Amino acid sequence: MSKSLQAIRGMNDILPEQTPAWRYLENTFAHLLKGYGYKEIRVPVLEFTELFARGIGEGTDVVDKEMYTFLDRNGESLTLRPEGTAGTVRAVLEHGLAGGGQVQKLWYAGPMFRYEKPQKGRYRQFHQIGVEVFNLPGPDIDAELIALTWRLWQALGLADAVSLQLNSLGSSEARAAYREALVAYLKERYELLDEDSQRRLTSNPLRILDSKNAQTQALLADAPTLHDYLDEESRAHFDGLKARLDAVGIRYEINPRLVRGLDYYGRTVFEWVTDKLGAQGTVCAGGRYDGLVSQFGGKPTPGVGFAMGVERLVLLLETLQLLPAELSPAPHVYLCAFGEPAELAALALAERLRDQLPGLRLQVNAGAGSFKSQLKKADKSGALYALVLGEDELARQVVGCKPLRDQGEQQSIAWADLAERLAPCLEQA
Ligand code: HAM
Repeated sequence: MSKSLQAIRGMNDILPEQTPAWRYLENTFAHLLKGYGYKEIRVPVLEFTELFARGIGEGTDVVDKEMYTFLDRNGESLTLRPEGTAGTVRAVLEHGLAGGGQVQKLWYAGPMFRYEKPQKGRYRQFHQIGVEVFNLPGPDIDAELIALTWRLWQALGLADAVSLQLNSLGSSEARAAYREALVAYLKERYELLDEDSQRRLTSNPLRILDSKNAQTQALLADAPTLHDYLDEESRAHFDGLKARLDAVGIRYEINPRLVRGLDYYGRTVFEWVTDKLGAQGTVCAGGRYDGLVSQFGGKPTPGVGFAMGVERLVLLLETLQLLPAELSPAPHVYLCAFGEPAELAALALAERLRDQLPGLRLQVNAGAGSFKSQLKKADKSGALYALVLGEDELARQVVGCKPLRDQGEQQSIAWADLAERLAPCLEQA
């Protein structure tokens, strides 16, 4: 196929055999969110570039290197959303959803776009399910968010496959003081830093902490740590979070080098990671962003949230073979009809059955065909029964009911009795 007619690199079609796993994950999570009182919000995939530049921060990889940005016909700079927090905060502010200290507990799902190097678990169009909470400053809600994700891992059977990394970034003043100390320490060792970290030393020094370079990591072993600079209030907040996680029995590892790649965070940050997916092991990440709403011009409004990578979670479920077997079940019945009069009657009969037995998975043969070919299609569909309606059945107002999965005899069933006779099918998954 010519290149222009192929999907863009790093942007995947989610094919019919994959979508049931996606739905399973989305439905499982949506169900949990409802139980915790979260409401769905949907925001556009396109926003003014400035929203992300200001929210996520100049100097971050996302803003500097990964955004899909273009001028529209009006000459305005727009960007395909690289994440969901900035747009959600904008919408909350624009519609006054958090005005007067109103608590909002929101969730969203959808595609995000980042110009990254595509590889397993890292794509240019990927999907997140995210949660954002406004106007709750305490560690209790941070703990609830983590408990919610923990419950999801349990529901999916992933509890043993993921682990929680936790850190506190402190107040912005504490971070600034720490940044200064870190830069001073690393400047003295500038020549030993990898090229990327040398560049980050001026643009975004905290990101050097999660450099993958071994020599840089070795240098960091003796560097000052963020925790030495944590302000009292942030320390108490962090202690409050840890106490709550301990109370619900959620294990975590404190990782003082966990800084996250987006600038809006302060205090709590966390990541759920797995070692089962190779390099792209973070399946869910988030933290607190108490300064973001005011940065966008609103009143100071605490915010906290997370987002999980749907592709990575589906990959993990597939890798560990944790997807339930019957995610896209076969039809219960496949209705075959021969000749136009029987086809018309079959259609009417099928619609009546759908009224009488909601939940019945009924496939009506389309495209006519001989007796043999229709029965072959019925069998291939995986249906439990083929219903057969020919001239003779039409005259007698019955259908032939042929079991396809066991040795039972074909029976004749009157149309009037069909719903009752098929009702037990509904007990099958
Ligand atoms: P993030 O860490 O940039 O945070 O992304 C969250 C998750 O999205 C990652 O942990 C990963 O699972 C998935 N993800 C990110 N980039 C890709 C990619 N290129 N391909 C596949 N999956 C990817 C955020 O986006 C924040 N908005 C999360 C948040 C919400 N913090 C507070 N509220």
